[in-house]
Amino acid sequence: MSNAIKLPMKKGFGRTDRIDKWWTKPFWMGFGLTVALVYTALRVLFWDGAIHYDNHRVTSPIFSPDVIHLFDLKTPTWMNSALLILWIPFGFRGTCYYMRKVYHRVFFQNPTACVVAKPEINYKIGYKGETGLFILNNIHRYMLYLAIIILSMKVYDVYHTMWFNEGNDFGISIGTLVLATESILLFMYVASCHAFRHLFGGGMNQWRGGISGIMGKLYIKVSNLNIEHAFWFWTSLVMVFLGDLFVWAVSEGFLTDPYLIIM
Ligand code: FES
Repeated sequence: MSNAIKLPMKKGFGRTDRIDKWWTKPFWMGFGLTVALVYTALRVLFWDGAIHYDNHRVTSPIFSPDVIHLFDLKTPTWMNSALLILWIPFGFRGTCYYMRKVYHRVFFQNPTACVVAKPEINYKIGYKGETGLFILNNIHRYMLYLAIIILSMKVYDVYHTMWFNEGNDFGISIGTLVLATESILLFMYVASCHAFRHLFGGGMNQWRGGISGIMGKLYIKVSNLNIEHAFWFWTSLVMVFLGDLFVWAVSEGFLTDPYLIIM
């Protein structure tokens, strides 16, 4: 009979037998998420000018899709499109399976890390799974459907950046590449989502021949994307802010957005 080892082997918050720098990853994840939240709050609530340029040809990813402009909505002057749509990306990312791992480890310290002791109180609290407020995590699949709609509108935004001079010339500028990169990374984040596989055979009882066999093969292919989900989570998130800074800088005249190709 094997001897069972009770983990973590040491008691006391942060104590461990690990010899690697286990805290580096959680530190940077916490730092990244905090900066993202503070930046978004400041930009959306207090600093929501300079969100597009060239008469709406290029729009900041934080404020895209710019539904107020697209649908000519009559809204109070303090309202902006981010206030209307950000609940979708927030809801999607907030219920993401990878995000759950991040916030449980970084912000709740429950667990702190593999084989690292967590705060004493968390041993008493334990892990209650998707209960209480966390039951909302179950809406993730529905948030995915909404995120797909937002992604399609962002693809349209990329196409829109290719029409210059009031729609008379077609081409590509740096702004096109910035928004295209953001859309591609977002597409990869969405396509690598655990719930995305539900659309490709994940909801079937069996994969045996015919359409269900094809769906089964697709499920395996889509599942391969899921392996790098954390990578797509972070790169797509960072690109939202880089894109916003680029649009802000061009809009304020600190940078220009020259054509690379024009027809
Ligand atoms: Fe992360 Fe769906 S699991 S977005």
